[in-house]
Amino acid sequence: MLLDKMRKKFLLGNWKMNKTVAEAKEFANEAKSLGDIAKKNNIDLGVCAPFIDLIDVKNIVGDSLIVGAQNCHYLEKGAFTGEISCEMLKEIGINLSIIGHSERREYDNETSTKCNLKIKALLKNEMTPVYCCGESLKTYEEGKTKDFVKTQIVEGFKDLTKLDAEKVVIAYEPIWAIGTGKSASKEIAEDMCKFIRNIIKDLYDEDASNNIRILYGGSVKPNNIAEYLSQPDVDGALVGGASLKVDSYKELLTNLL
Ligand code: PGA
Repeated sequence: MLLDKMRKKFLLGNWKMNKTVAEAKEFANEAKSLGDIAKKNNIDLGVCAPFIDLIDVKNIVGDSLIVGAQNCHYLEKGAFTGEISCEMLKEIGINLSIIGHSERREYDNETSTKCNLKIKALLKNEMTPVYCCGESLKTYEEGKTKDFVKTQIVEGFKDLTKLDAEKVVIAYEPIWAIGTGKSASKEIAEDMCKFIRNIIKDLYDEDASNNIRILYGGSVKPNNIAEYLSQPDVDGALVGGASLKVDSYKELLTNLL
């Protein structure tokens, strides 16, 4: 099942290549109760775990938290060593996947064209893609951020109908702010999320741009999450480092209530 189309707040953790199954289970047991707080406050709360952790985390948290993958393949099956299909994820109750994270773009040659195929595969399976975009420090310093991000969005959304486009969650994550402790200012985050919303308006219409959810990511911490979420075009946060410890994950949630 896809996430609600509603533009409610969304806090999504991204564990990256962290947590053994034992560690993931410990987190899941401790974080499970946070789902109630999130639901009462109309917030979507989730975590994207390594493939091997997914079944156990999902079994522990049930529907109290959203459990997502960090990547998937765009084909159903075949000779693709080391890959996982949407169907495989869906079978174990996983309904969301990050697509095109900058680390995958950098180390695994993930292009926006490939992301487009993955987004379509997820949507076909009624799953939610969280499509990441964002520029490098070099692009930022050259003042080419907007052109760069626009291309990522246009290519990622190629041939998506308006109905499908609205189901995608976009995460704007400037690479220079990821894991560096150097977060973008709330003004930069708002400016870019608004810019992306306008691209959706140009590609589709006002309605689609109002409905789509756009998250900010890059060194989001408990002490700055509220600032980002106070911006009108920032609907949530994709959080790496600060989502790894339950205490900090809980603080991220409580600080945006
Ligand atoms: P960070 O990672 O919060 O550790 O900067 C964010 C991300 O890469 O999604």
